[in-house]
Amino acid sequence: MSTFKTIDDMDVSGKKVLVRADLNVPMADGKPSDTTRIDRTVPTIRDLISRGAKVIVISHFGRPKGQVVPEMSLKPVADAMGTALGMDVKFATDTIGDSAKEVTNAMNNGDVAMLENVRFHAEETENDDAFASAMAAIGDVYVNDAFSTAHRAHASTDALARKLPAAAGRLMQAELEALGGALGNPQKPVAAVVGGAKVSTKMEVLGNLSKKVDVIIIGGGMANTFLFANGHDVGASLCEKDMADEARNIVKTAAENGCEIVLPLDVVVAKEFAAGADNKVVGIDEIPSDMMALDIGPATIKDVETRLEGCKTLVWNGPFGAFEIEPFDKGTNAAAQAAARLTKAGTLLSVAGGGDTVAALAHAGAADDFTYISTAGGAFLEWIEGKTLPGVAALES
Ligand code: 3PG
Repeated sequence: MSTFKTIDDMDVSGKKVLVRADLNVPMADGKPSDTTRIDRTVPTIRDLISRGAKVIVISHFGRPKGQVVPEMSLKPVADAMGTALGMDVKFATDTIGDSAKEVTNAMNNGDVAMLENVRFHAEETENDDAFASAMAAIGDVYVNDAFSTAHRAHASTDALARKLPAAAGRLMQAELEALGGALGNPQKPVAAVVGGAKVSTKMEVLGNLSKKVDVIIIGGGMANTFLFANGHDVGASLCEKDMADEARNIVKTAAENGCEIVLPLDVVVAKEFAAGADNKVVGIDEIPSDMMALDIGPATIKDVETRLEGCKTLVWNGPFGAFEIEPFDKGTNAAAQAAARLTKAGTLLSVAGGGDTVAALAHAGAADDFTYISTAGGAFLEWIEGKTLPGVAALES
């Protein structure tokens, strides 16, 4: 049972409400290419403005490392938020200081403004108290709607929550309720699909997950690191060779916990990372030195489908291959469609999270049939591991 307040418990009329959202969205040609995170923040904002609040949105975008990086400005996101809300969203060129004060002091009840990328200040990721006070000076109350950033103890997710009356927004509340309902007491066997390219950042997660689930199916660039660690030559594939020891440790921990680690049996290889590139299917011991694995092969697809059929619960983060470029989307498509089919048939409860994963499931036409799709990637995995998320803990304090 959560012990934090929600926006239902708050009197917001005429108040400046600082809403920490996660608007770290994918961009193409200077515009958000997927507006899921924007759209899913809209209910909180609409609710607050319908009650006469002045909504001031705070978010990070990318990892500018405390520098002002113009390409990481939130201005295009503010415009997209305006489109989603059907109203003008004012924009302040800094998170604190004169610009933020000028824009927010000019707001009327029911207005929405967005502040510039909070990570343009190094103090954000340092969870700096003075920086949190400077943000707090702009608003009267604080709402955290950024479940997908709740695994970061940053100034706008942690310190700030302790400076003003604080509550969870609709999305934060929905994510925690949905994940708790679906995975709080999961039916076994539980499978985790973990793929994608961010190998090093997911290694710790894998070790902890192996204590919670019955089988971990590894795909994407991560699988190459494990294949390499097991003594296979992965050619020119994406592979973090310096993580080989760690990978071997994870396999060992998993075995000790009765968790099976499943790796590809065959892969689709190509010389270049490009749509339509010449490709062929090879066994994992036959990857040519000048070619890279860009997808799982047909034998692996069959194996993954069979394993999913034997499971009752699935958590999924990360694609099996380079799903953005055909024909290397086949493995991810087939696995996603199998999970969707089993969910529809009522034999599998499926929960997925992560920007790439959501895009991959949508690309496969499978997203609508999953039991629940989270906006979070890293936070989703840490929640599944059973870790305390600082952004949630700060609301509970
Ligand atoms: C995400 O996209 O997972 C969140 O926005 C967190 O981003 P970060 O990994 O840069 O903290």
